Amino acid sequence: MCGIFGYKGTRDNASEIVVEGLKRLDYRGYDSWGVGVATGSELSVQKQVGKISEVHDGMHFPSAHTAIAHTRWATTGAVTQANAHPHMSADGSFILAQNGIVENFSELKKSLREKGYEFKSETDTEVIVRLIEEVSKTESPFLEAIRQAFLQLEGRNTIIILTKEGEIYAARNGSPLVAGLDSHTGDIFLSSDTLSFAAQADQMVVIENNQLVKVGTDQKLELFDAKTGASCSYKWEPINISTGTIDKEGFDHFMAKEIHETPSVIKQIVHQDRTKMTQLAEAVKNAHQVYVVGCGTAGFAAYQTAFYLRVFGKVNAISLIGADVLSYYPLFQKGDLIIAPSQSGETADVIEVLEYAKKIGMQIASLVNMPGSMMTRMSDFPFMCNAGPEICVMSTKVFSSQITWGYLLAKTVQGKYEEGRENLTRLSDEIEKYLTDGEKLQQVQDLAALIASREHIFLLGKYQNFAVMSEGMVKIVEASYKHAHAIQAGDLKHYAITLMEKGIPVIVAVSEDEVKNDVMTAINEVRLRGAEVIAIASKKEDNFDHFLHVADTGETSALFNVIPLQLLAYYLAVALGNNVDKPRNIAKSVTVK
Ligand code: F6R
Repeated sequence: MCGIFGYKGTRDNASEIVVEGLKRLDYRGYDSWGVGVATGSELSVQKQVGKISEVHDGMHFPSAHTAIAHTRWATTGAVTQANAHPHMSADGSFILAQNGIVENFSELKKSLREKGYEFKSETDTEVIVRLIEEVSKTESPFLEAIRQAFLQLEGRNTIIILTKEGEIYAARNGSPLVAGLDSHTGDIFLSSDTLSFAAQADQMVVIENNQLVKVGTDQKLELFDAKTGASCSYKWEPINISTGTIDKEGFDHFMAKEIHETPSVIKQIVHQDRTKMTQLAEAVKNAHQVYVVGCGTAGFAAYQTAFYLRVFGKVNAISLIGADVLSYYPLFQKGDLIIAPSQSGETADVIEVLEYAKKIGMQIASLVNMPGSMMTRMSDFPFMCNAGPEICVMSTKVFSSQITWGYLLAKTVQGKYEEGRENLTRLSDEIEKYLTDGEKLQQVQDLAALIASREHIFLLGKYQNFAVMSEGMVKIVEASYKHAHAIQAGDLKHYAITLMEKGIPVIVAVSEDEVKNDVMTAINEVRLRGAEVIAIASKKEDNFDHFLHVADTGETSALFNVIPLQLLAYYLAVALGNNVDKPRNIAKSVTVK
């Protein structure tokens, strides 16, 4: 949901530095981008609709030591150049970009209009600019005007401001903000994530909610409490992120590369700190109620984790979709534990639930891939996926990491940690074999070519396979822009059977488990109506029209079944000529509600 980047330092090519930073942030939104530099006497701004990654030449900025940049995922106002950030003050003295939503922007805009302010865009961000102009009439210094304006904003928003003198200001509430330092040169970076400057800075500090930042002309970073204006102390921490892997490494797309990284991602989970896992398992056992919460793909990871906790851990675990938890609030109580898998650790719908849970004394565990996230900092039990950067907007390897972790946690609760690790090691080896078997990959590619022309795609799963088939649905929808629908195999006859007819592809996971007969019955029911069955299974059965063979990995079968589904989605996107790594309309980090 928008990315912001700022640089102030010794180098005079600030515009190039922020463009490079922005390219690493465009997973956060790619409707439009904008860059502004300060020369000391004036501000120069360029904005364009489209992706920053498509910008190569043609941008000409004066040389400058200070710049800010923004990549937009539109929320308020259409995707136009006028609505692209940054927005400039009427007197040209500062520019401002935002990541978030000003929920009370209509009221603020109305009152500013009544005072005579004019607006050039439809955005809530321009309202912040005008508000700061208004407050500046009576408040100084500029930091104080920003502070007072910022306090009037409702919602989750993080802003970055550049003045023509070359000062950068920023303020955080909800949406992420991190500062970086190159300790050799003193160059300062501000960004929505650490990864975007990790190649250039060696130290970082996470800006907390309700903190204001000032990087003055002396190139020093100062922090202030937005509520009181008081100065805050901070400590630079070393950056421990590998940046060497942000490369497709011979694959055509990051999505393919990231699916192929699954075996090593599973091994990262297997080699997690046992003591930490055991401590969380104890907390799970002692909790009055366990909730697992996530959105989208992470919502299905939550579903699968709760499944494993019930089946192996015999724990009362319920999964919740982050955007729809309100009806559970009356049940939440001290003594409950909430577990949040999230690749970004910044998803607004989940953070809101965690904030509520924390307030009433529930314990929080999180599993996050992005270092330094808000969820990690809110957690009593913070876990990292350590899956490495996931550049494709569609989550693949991180989903596998989340459900692998969920499985291992459940096995730890069951008292069978070692058995869980052994099963996962074998799973990782089997997935490795699968992903290096050209024939198997070709089979999936051929099936994608076959169904690329179909309008509707159904997926059936039951018991251990329902959440992963649902995640297959998510991937197919995101990658192909086609209608896909996941159904509980047993529920099919209650409604969706009406949709079964000749030519409808139905993808089914058939594991060698206690529900196999039920799933085979569902297969017969859809085939009788003319549907074409694509089975993901370890044993071939007569009633499969197409068979994607996977190894039988016993109780981790569902974790394996994800792989052919992700590959199918990938090949569908390729066959349809879609933008694989950046599907339309979607952002990787959803920091607005
Ligand atoms: C889809 C996808 C999204 C995210 C969801 C939650 O491929 O990645 O559905 O799972 O937006 O995001 P996180 O995991 O950052 O909480």
